[in-house]
Amino acid sequence: MLIDPKTFERFNMILTGVVVPRPIAFVSTISTDGVVNLAPFSFFNAMAYNPPTLIFSSSRRAPGWQDKRKDTLTNIEETGEYVVNIVVDDIAAAMNATAAEYPSDVSEFDIAGLTESPSEMVKAPRVAESPVNMECRLVQVVNIGEQPHAHGIVIGEIVRMHVSDDVMYDGPNGLRINHAALKPTGRLAGNMYCRTDDVYELIRPSYSEQDEGVGRVAD
Ligand SMILES: Cc1cc2nc3c(=O)[nH]c(=O)nc-3n(C[C@H](O)[C@H](O)[C@H](O)COP(=O)(O)O)c2cc1C
Repeated sequence: MLIDPKTFERFNMILTGVVVPRPIAFVSTISTDGVVNLAPFSFFNAMAYNPPTLIFSSSRRAPGWQDKRKDTLTNIEETGEYVVNIVVDDIAAAMNATAAEYPSDVSEFDIAGLTESPSEMVKAPRVAESPVNMECRLVQVVNIGEQPHAHGIVIGEIVRMHVSDDVMYDGPNGLRINHAALKPTGRLAGNMYCRTDDVYELIRPSYSEQDEGVGRVAD
């Protein structure tokens, strides 16, 4: 099948069905009025180590609510700060509970029964139940698309990272993340999710003119 994204009905389901699995940024923010907000975003990834850079994308308007701006994007643009909490098995249902288009004066921490934990460098609180919290400062919002499909791509720098000792191990090359303990949640299309129970290793090859391609363990 050949697809023209401009004319294919509900192309969004095709795109989110093939770019899988996606990690989920559980983004906590605080408004200029002091209302705490929490919402999941699976258009999310890490983009650079130095400076440590994360991106995620939020539509400007809530679907079906053309007058309602998404609180996360508004809060980040107004305060320049946020926390990306990683979604794991234990909090996947709570994450889902925060994803309705609640009024701006509602804190999704209360709705989902999650606990606010103070951050070090930013005003937005961390999700205590998430084993990884990344405090971020806004670098830039890149606007793409036109209403009603306008999105803001949020580029941010990690200024502090909190990682639970329970999901780390001391390996031969230093501290690393134990994915079996982390249990990250992956997003597929629509309401479908996955776990990382079935993992395997591929040794990344290296190439030089001297050795003409000798495998080594990628770090
Ligand atoms: C797993 C999951 C992933 C989501 N990913 C995105 C996303 O990448 N971009 C987006 O605009 N909305 C996404 N949503 C929808 C938002 O979470 C939802 O619109 C939320 O109410 C926005 O909250 P806010 O107004 O407090 O920012 C996602 C929802 C779920 C359940």
